[in-house]
Amino acid sequence: MSFKIVILGSGRGSNAKAILEAEATGQLGEASTVAILSDKKEAPILDLAKQFGKSAHSIPCNPKKARLNPEETEAFLKIIQELNPDLVVLAGFMKIIDPQFIESLDGKIINLHPSLLPCFPGINSIENAFNFPVKITGCTVHWVIPKIDAGKIIDQKAVIIEPNDTLESLSVKVHAAEHLLLPDVIRRLSTGAIPFSK
Ligand code: GAR
Repeated sequence: MSFKIVILGSGRGSNAKAILEAEATGQLGEASTVAILSDKKEAPILDLAKQFGKSAHSIPCNPKKARLNPEETEAFLKIIQELNPDLVVLAGFMKIIDPQFIESLDGKIINLHPSLLPCFPGINSIENAFNFPVKITGCTVHWVIPKIDAGKIIDQKAVIIEPNDTLESLSVKVHAAEHLLLPDVIRRLSTGAIPFSK
C-alpha cells in the first residue's frame, strides 16, 4: 500500500534529498514521493526531483511577498489536489500559507523547522539560537496550523551547542539532525506508527 507524499520547498533541497535517498534505499516505510513543488523556478530542489525521477512543478510567485496570494494558493492547491497525496511535507518552503490552504488539505501537512520549537520560531532560527546563546538547539517536525510554527509537535531532535561551535558548524549539525528526523517521521506516519491526530 502506497502512502503518497508531495514535497514543497524553496531552496537547495537538502531535506528533500534526504527523503528521496531514504525512499531509494527502502527506509521511507510505505511512503513514496510523487512530486516536488516550488515557488521558485530556479530552485535546486526542482533539479533533485528530476535527478530522482520525480515530477517537478514550479508555481511563479511574487518573490517580494512572504505570504502566498490567493491566485498562488489556488495554483498550488490545483496541482496538489490532482496528485491527491496522503501527506504534504514542507521542507524548507519559505512562503506563509493561508488557513484555506491548510483546511483544504484536511490538515495533512507537516513542516520542518530548524530549532526546538516553541523556541526560535520564524526565520534565522539557527542564528538566533546561536546568538542567544542557548546550549541546546535542534529541529522540529510539527503539524501545520494557521499560526506560524505553532502546530502540535510530532518529533524533535536535539543538537548540543559546543563552546567551539561557530554559526557555520552549528548549521551543519542542525541540518544533519534534520536529515535524520524528517525522513524518519515520514516513515512512521506512513506505517501508522505515528497517528494522524492533529
Ligand atoms: C531547513 O533548515 C528547514 O528547517 C528550514 O529551511 C531549511 C531548508 O533547507 N525551514 C524553515 O526555516 C521554515 N521556517 P533545505 O532546502 O536544504 O532542505
